[in-house]
Amino acid sequence: MCGIVGYVGKNNAVPVILSGLYKLEYRGYDSAGIAVIENEALKVIKTKGRIKDLDEKIRSYGEINTNCAIGHTRWATHGAPSDVNSHPHISKNGRIAIVHNGIIENFLELREMLEAKGFEFVSQTDTEVVAHLFELNYKGNALEALQDTTKQLRGSYAIGVVTADAPSEIVCARKDNPLIIGIGEGENILGSDIPAIIGTTKNYIILNDNETARVTCEGVEVYNALGDNVSKEIHVVDWDISAAEKGGYEHFMMKEICEQAKAVKDTLSPRITKLLPNMSETKLSPEMFKNVRNIHIVACGSALYAGLVGKHIIEKLARIPCLANVASEFRYNDPIIDENDLCIVVSQSGETADTLAAMREAKKRGAKTLAIVNVVGSSAAREADSVLYTWAGPEIAVATTKAYSAQLSAMYLVAVYAAMSKGILTEEMAMGYCKEIMDLPELIDEVIKTREQVQYLASIYSNRSSTFFIGRGIDYAAAQEASLKLKEISYVHSEAYAAGELKHGTISLIEDGTLVVALANDDDVYEKTLSNIKSVKARGANVILVTNKNVTADPEICDHVIKIPKTIAELSASLSIVPMQLLAYYIGVYRGCDIDMPRNLAKSVTVE
Ligand code: M6R
Repeated sequence: MCGIVGYVGKNNAVPVILSGLYKLEYRGYDSAGIAVIENEALKVIKTKGRIKDLDEKIRSYGEINTNCAIGHTRWATHGAPSDVNSHPHISKNGRIAIVHNGIIENFLELREMLEAKGFEFVSQTDTEVVAHLFELNYKGNALEALQDTTKQLRGSYAIGVVTADAPSEIVCARKDNPLIIGIGEGENILGSDIPAIIGTTKNYIILNDNETARVTCEGVEVYNALGDNVSKEIHVVDWDISAAEKGGYEHFMMKEICEQAKAVKDTLSPRITKLLPNMSETKLSPEMFKNVRNIHIVACGSALYAGLVGKHIIEKLARIPCLANVASEFRYNDPIIDENDLCIVVSQSGETADTLAAMREAKKRGAKTLAIVNVVGSSAAREADSVLYTWAGPEIAVATTKAYSAQLSAMYLVAVYAAMSKGILTEEMAMGYCKEIMDLPELIDEVIKTREQVQYLASIYSNRSSTFFIGRGIDYAAAQEASLKLKEISYVHSEAYAAGELKHGTISLIEDGTLVVALANDDDVYEKTLSNIKSVKARGANVILVTNKNVTADPEICDHVIKIPKTIAELSASLSIVPMQLLAYYIGVYRGCDIDMPRNLAKSVTVE
């Protein structure tokens, strides 16, 4: 989704903003722009396309020397991607420029009010109303104008504003959209997330909802909704800039696939002591699980599919009824959830609008909340009652891989902890599970070795227009993630099906050459899955079998076998998903797709 960078300081702001915008590319965008104050005049340069297009356009203007600028990447919501709809947007008097992430829900009524007062609109965006409204409220103090303006806005926003009147000052505000401010020496920088600011400083503060700030070279002042000055905790980024760079890999996605063992190990190690789950860093307690009636997992996309694996293992081990809910549906479905229930929110970014809204609904109804989240200090982490961080490190590719794997690990820990709390697993049994869980990083590295075989298979099947992923139980949950990966990276239509469900209609789509990828890693249902596979093979499908069994390709069953290591069935998604990520990756590469920034997608979806 959209990204913001703003810099004011001792250096030329233009290269700092451009470098920040490059770092935000992974969030997904279709246009970009920059506003600078040079010689007390405002200059805005923007374009549809990529940051490199903006970079070239800026160069064509000759050298720009300024110590203050704001920049933006736009992911279109109101109005198509175009030069004119790109941010920054300028006020009528041409002296105010603003960038905005989020959606202004009352923009139509504001637009009518502003048009009646003589303001003319040039774009189709909701953001342009903010620029004009700001001008209407401006009486010489930008911060006060922003505070008055935000009081009139409904919706979500992170906003940055520069004015020609105050050439070394940026004012900014936030509600339901992330914004952080990096604190440097003689320079300060705002950004939508850490990669945008880390080139300048590792120290940062997190703006809370309804807070506004004035950022100058000398310092940062933050105000709450009442206009009172508030002091903020300074956080320090605990990873290096190289973690957000490709490090010799062609794509971030491949780098992140290869980093999965580490992500899983870093997530597990601090939480397993003497082979038992140790949740002391969270606010989880055995009582919470002893008495809980239902667990509701809420999440979107891959995080939801990690939740589906979580549902299986929590129900199997702890015997607590568990629902994995699509977050965007949850709050509109009048969910049956109250103080007897636990809501587990799963999110890499911790900023997904639908997930946050679902969590807030669960809280409103009295449920306790646990966030399994990767981004430290994100909204989900701050608003949940307890937090279990996945230590996957920065994930840059839009398609999640290592964060998903880390989410699975966190789910396993919760399941074992819940089962022990309920007295269903003895210490000895729990230790057995933890031992298997701790073995996963090594086994994940083992599966990465299927890379060449998977690349070969991708070369054969990259031209197929439709693919089915099938499995039962945990394999079905993993199949759903596998199918999403293929869709988003290679734009190949694919569906995930419970293997036993195909025969109830969808098998009519199987014909000569349809690619079916079958996951079969649970001994209890292996034979049943094989029967389902035989039925698609008999109808002409090409079948890739992903299994931990020692089997070879058999003309009646499958064309190829991807052999993965054995673990207990409940944990098998952590291994079966790896060749599926690789398959999606290589098919995407063969089809010439933009692997790290697939079309139409955003890394963090901060609008509903
Ligand atoms: O940041 P989140 O984990 O909340 O994001 C949820 C989904 O948007 C995300 O998993 C999405 O489905 C990914 N692109 C999948 O690779």
